[in-house]
Amino acid sequence: MLQLQNKPYKEGVSVNPLAQVDPEIQEVLKAEIERERFRLQMIASENFSSPAVLEAQGSIFTNKYAEGYPNARYYQGCGPSDRVEQLAIDRVKALYQAEHANVQAHSGSTANLAAYMALLQPGDKVLGMDLADGGHLTHGAKFNFSGKLYEAHSYKVHPVTHLIDYEALAKQARELKPRLLIAGASAYPRIIDFAAMRSICDETGAYFLVDIAHIAGLIAGGAHPSPVPYADVITSTTHKTLRGPRGGFILCRNEFAKKVDAAIFPGVQGGPLMHVIAAKAVAFHEAHQPAFKAYAQQIVSNAKVLAEELLSRGFNLLTNGTDNHLILIDLRKENMTGADAARRLEEGGIVVNKNGIPDDPLGPRITSGIRLGVPAITSQGMREAEMHQIAGYIDQVVRGNGEAAELEKISNSVRELCERFPL
Ligand SMILES: Cc1ncc(COP(=O)(O)O)c(C=O)c1O
Repeated sequence: MLQLQNKPYKEGVSVNPLAQVDPEIQEVLKAEIERERFRLQMIASENFSSPAVLEAQGSIFTNKYAEGYPNARYYQGCGPSDRVEQLAIDRVKALYQAEHANVQAHSGSTANLAAYMALLQPGDKVLGMDLADGGHLTHGAKFNFSGKLYEAHSYKVHPVTHLIDYEALAKQARELKPRLLIAGASAYPRIIDFAAMRSICDETGAYFLVDIAHIAGLIAGGAHPSPVPYADVITSTTHKTLRGPRGGFILCRNEFAKKVDAAIFPGVQGGPLMHVIAAKAVAFHEAHQPAFKAYAQQIVSNAKVLAEELLSRGFNLLTNGTDNHLILIDLRKENMTGADAARRLEEGGIVVNKNGIPDDPLGPRITSGIRLGVPAITSQGMREAEMHQIAGYIDQVVRGNGEAAELEKISNSVRELCERFPL
């Protein structure tokens, strides 16, 4: 791409002009590079996208308006846009063996909004996992569009095992008769039984939506069962385990294709972000490669080892472990809030997020837990040995004295570890 070749495109004009045009933003970018390189990025919804993805996203497609769909646009000059969007569609369909794909959703939330618009009328009943139990805002939280536009109800995890209780869910769905049942979560460390949820939908006459935002990369790499045989519509982000640019996509069976496409455009969005769609196409191509399969397996293996090491150190993990890329630590036993632990861990060089536990008495700004994820550190090349090391650092930070000198020492060790795995 022009701006990466670092050559003048016009005599006397640099093609890497940010430092000259806006040194302030250039400085911020440098600070972010430093932050990403020398701390452990363990937010479960984040990852390091490849240079190829970044290059496509930073490309000249930023300039183009292409309202509509390939070969049916409202503007002229869409030849290259058609090609790039069709490539993205074909690649993501092949990746998940889906009948239809829409790659225009600007984000996971927009993908969900469009999926609801395709399947529901305002006021219809929807049933999604409770936000407090690991569900997402867009699955019916009362302050979100999903809770305002629809009659939203939520299902909870089992109070003791913290697993989805499929029998209780079936009973709830039989009584409620929702128009839509939503599977998928932001903070659930176990495999979801899509077949069981499909049969609940069949029995109660609900549509079945699966939001795979978190686990999309695991499914693509064969490290998690696919919901494609069971779901009516699937929504996702592209930037989590899938390691693409920030964005969303929707998969569905052919019978919903027209409704889904119309819900995205003109229903919810205007012009597609062609530069992001180009980057999505690159990410889908990367996810087809054998190396991505190995990556997805390594995520699961790393998360398991990290969970086992934390358990052996006496930490309380929700569901006692993990099947996927994330781990939830219940900190009540440690006498520390999620907010304090997350702040301390960042000072120790480990970036995570505070996270509520089911029926958390402390509320979402404080919380009683933290969520850890391994997708980014696995992209860096860290393996089982590093997971043991990281569990040790987490233990030292959470159970240490919290003083600046101690946290600085740990953060220096973390820095050394990160230096061994350059981005
Ligand atoms: C399950 C789930 N769905 C949807 C989203 C929303 O994605 P976005 O932040 O791109 O709107 C998220 C993001 O965290 C998520 O975890």
